[in-house]
Amino acid sequence: MSVITTIEDLRHIYERRVPRMFYDYAESGSWTEQTFRENSSDFSDIRLRQRVAVDMSGRSTASQMIGEDVAMPVALAPVGLTGMQHADGEMKAAKAAEEFGVPFTLSTMSINSIEDVAEHTTKPFWFQLYTMKDQDYVSRLIQRAKDAKCSALVITLDLQILGQRHKDLKNGLSAPPKLTPKSIANLMTKWSWGIEMLNAKRREFGNIVGHVDGISDASSLGAWTAEQFDPSLDWSKVEKLMQQWGGKVILKGILDAEDAKMAVKLGADAIIVSNHGGRQLDGALSSIRMLPQIMDAVGGDIEVHMDGGIRSGQDVLKAIALGAKGTYIGRAFVYGLGAMGQKGVATALDVIQKELDTTMALCGERSVGDLGRHNLLIPDDFGGRWQD
Ligand code: GLV
Repeated sequence: MSVITTIEDLRHIYERRVPRMFYDYAESGSWTEQTFRENSSDFSDIRLRQRVAVDMSGRSTASQMIGEDVAMPVALAPVGLTGMQHADGEMKAAKAAEEFGVPFTLSTMSINSIEDVAEHTTKPFWFQLYTMKDQDYVSRLIQRAKDAKCSALVITLDLQILGQRHKDLKNGLSAPPKLTPKSIANLMTKWSWGIEMLNAKRREFGNIVGHVDGISDASSLGAWTAEQFDPSLDWSKVEKLMQQWGGKVILKGILDAEDAKMAVKLGADAIIVSNHGGRQLDGALSSIRMLPQIMDAVGGDIEVHMDGGIRSGQDVLKAIALGAKGTYIGRAFVYGLGAMGQKGVATALDVIQKELDTTMALCGERSVGDLGRHNLLIPDDFGGRWQD
């Protein structure tokens, strides 16, 4: 196997190893994919300030997110269908995160259930919640996350309806994969994935199947969201969910200063500046471009995290220097998982930590807490302003 030095190396192996429908699911955005692409490419508009002859010994990437110690300010993002990228994918990714010392966030739309991940790990993980029309089901999910001792609830606010991803519709995305001539032809070339999947603990949505009655199609993300997600979710409902949970809450999907102010008003512990990896509102600005104006609006009042487009330690450094207290990787860890299971997730984390550490040193910084806008050259029009 060739030497792995970048996240892109992992993506190449991942692309070869995993069935096309799951690769396409991860590697796509909605409609024209403009926001998906710009989430990554906009990082290159920010330049780093090189400093020299600074004592760089004794550096550390360690930090905290919502008061929890982290080996670096990078959590694993909630990603639906992770257990289709690799057998027992959520259990393996959670274990890799635990061993590395960063938070793992389990998606509602995971394959492994909350209980599977709790049994497989020893430290608390975070649970991401989608709100459904069925209030009893949501209450039970919240209770299950409490019973599993999850240390934070991440409430996603930007997916009451699903942005259209053309490839998923064309591929007939489902978990487990539906057998059609096209999918069978592709699955036959992915034998190592298939053999491992035969022994997987689960191949269906583990938080849903067996926990809800009378659903017409639990295998399709599109059908499930269209039928079950609560289109009437508003701030008052968010507040009720926060009360019901009673613990630490992170509100995910904030891309506007006014919404960030609402999150502060509600008393959330943190927000995630996010456009859902470019998978929802195509045409929205990238997360990194929105981060400065959200920091300016609420940075002193709430902990701000961001996700979207992070593929390197340099990207992490830029987000942290702009004021984020934490970042999330979604695709970057999925590439590792699909490529090499738990070891691949550990490799992805390792690659990013080494890049972050070396880049900090070359910027003349020894600790994450010392990073700031003084490390960056940012174009004047980077964030832009909305029209009144
Ligand atoms: C679900 O979270 C998705 O973006 O597919």
